[in-house]
Amino acid sequence: MCGIVGYTGMEEASPFLLNGLRKLEYRGYDSAGVAVYNDTGLHVVKSKGRLSVLEGILEGGTKLPGRVGIGHTRWATHGAPSDVNSHPQVSDGGKFAVVHNGIIENYLALKNRLISKGVTFTSDTDTEVVAQLLEYYYDGDVLSAIQKVIQRVEGSYALGILCSEFPEKIFAVRKDSPLIVGVGKGENFIASDIPAILAKTREIYRLKDREIAVLSRETIEFYNGEGEPVEKEIEHIEWDISAAEKGGYEHFMMKEICEQPEALRKTISPRIRDGHIVLDDIELTAEYLREINKVFIVACGTAYHVGVVAKYAFERLLKVPMEVDVASEFRYRSPIIDEKSLVIIISQSGETADTLAALREAKKQGARVLSIVNVVGSTIANESDDVLYTWAGPEIAVASTKAYSTQLAVIYLIVLYMAEKLGTVSGKEFAEYVADLERLPEFVASCLNDKETIQYFASQYFNAKDMYFIGRNVDYAASLEASLKLKEISYIHSEAYTAGELKHGPISLIEDGTLVIAISTYEKLFDKMVSNIKEVKARGAVVLGITTQRKRKAMLDAVDHVFCVPKISDFMLPSLSIIPLQLFAYYVASMKGCDIDKPRNLAKSVTVE
Ligand code: G6P
Repeated sequence: MCGIVGYTGMEEASPFLLNGLRKLEYRGYDSAGVAVYNDTGLHVVKSKGRLSVLEGILEGGTKLPGRVGIGHTRWATHGAPSDVNSHPQVSDGGKFAVVHNGIIENYLALKNRLISKGVTFTSDTDTEVVAQLLEYYYDGDVLSAIQKVIQRVEGSYALGILCSEFPEKIFAVRKDSPLIVGVGKGENFIASDIPAILAKTREIYRLKDREIAVLSRETIEFYNGEGEPVEKEIEHIEWDISAAEKGGYEHFMMKEICEQPEALRKTISPRIRDGHIVLDDIELTAEYLREINKVFIVACGTAYHVGVVAKYAFERLLKVPMEVDVASEFRYRSPIIDEKSLVIIISQSGETADTLAALREAKKQGARVLSIVNVVGSTIANESDDVLYTWAGPEIAVASTKAYSTQLAVIYLIVLYMAEKLGTVSGKEFAEYVADLERLPEFVASCLNDKETIQYFASQYFNAKDMYFIGRNVDYAASLEASLKLKEISYIHSEAYTAGELKHGPISLIEDGTLVIAISTYEKLFDKMVSNIKEVKARGAVVLGITTQRKRKAMLDAVDHVFCVPKISDFMLPSLSIIPLQLFAYYVASMKGCDIDKPRNLAKSVTVE
């Protein structure tokens, strides 16, 4: 959601900025722009639409010479996507150009005040307030103007700032929205995310809340919100650059689907030693675990769906009550939490605004927070009491796949770790579960072997207007994620229902030819599922059944098409049943000609409430 990149050095800024913004496209955006400083002053070029539109206007960057610049991809919040609302936003007198990720919550009050003082606004954005305030407070010292602005604005921000009176410098500051500073030789960078600058440097600084960075070609200085100099530690990025490239695949999403076995191996293997679970350096003692009165899982989107799977596993294996909530609800519903509550936060990016707010709320109420995060050093990781990383590598496609799989794997690890400590499962069961978890990457790989069956099935139904996903127990949890994947990238209306709930409403929507995808891998409720399948078949539905090899024959008798997954411990089944359905969503979207990696209106990292 929105992307920032900035450059100061000896090379041309515009081509670098365009290239950097390309690497951030996955975050989701609807317009793009750059500001570049050159001999004739500060120039801004911006436009609604895809980056290719801006690239066309700038003729690949050649139209706008200059060696210092900032760029932005905008995902509209305040003000519709339009040229004028795109960033950079420029102050009335033309002294400041600003790019911004986040939301200035009190922008209206600030805007009205500035208008009453004679300032003219041109856009509907909250960001323009920052540019105007900077010029309003500026008296020759940009650092002090920035301090005054951040004292007055409320909300979240990552800001890249150019000032026409300091043509070699970039200023940057952040709060609750990530921003990094990249260190080059004779050139320096800012970016909202690492891929934007990875081609140039692996040495970075991460700005903390309210820290200000001042960059020139040769120098980088850091200050705190009070304007005092701050020493920061440099961080070396280990990722292989190919991890952020498509590597021969047509889309990141397919690449990431296919990376799941490897990502799972990296996430699981180091944490199983001699048949026991080892959770990095986290020590949850049996005494502490016994004291826990409730476990909460809080997350958004796909990560929330991991929580729905987790509830079945926690309650069955640990006999501990669990609540699963979407973060935007949790934070405002007065949940009953105390120091005996364990709150598990799940987030790929580690920056989702609602999830972060939920984490802070949980901590405020005394709970211990354990987070499952993919991005190392992200805000959620930093603010949690304990962190378990999903070693999925960078996930670029907006629709999450390998993050989901690895988040599930970490949940299984936590459940087994606790089960062993609490003695809630027998030694034999425990050993079987651990063996299954170790084989999970191989099982996922085997599900990926049969892409053609799913591709064929997608070719038969990609024109459908609606689809329904049904399941019971863990299969219902997987249905939620399968339905989300489909609607996110193919724009087909789809819903997930517990199969037992069909007769209370949704069955009225089933008519001749309606596609129903029935997930029935949970063998204990297989016969109940078959009854539900019969109910929809009787009303004309076409049914794709997802089941285990063992139930293949019985499923074939009930449905039109079958896809089988290997048998694994019940609570891990969603890790397998989701694979054909990720592929199904991908192929349907591809056949419909959709923009798979960057679906409309969606963002990878949602840093606004
Ligand atoms: C957005 C993304 C989803 C993601 C959700 C939560 O909606 O498009 O793929 O599941 O945010 O993101 P997080 O980074 O917290 O897992």
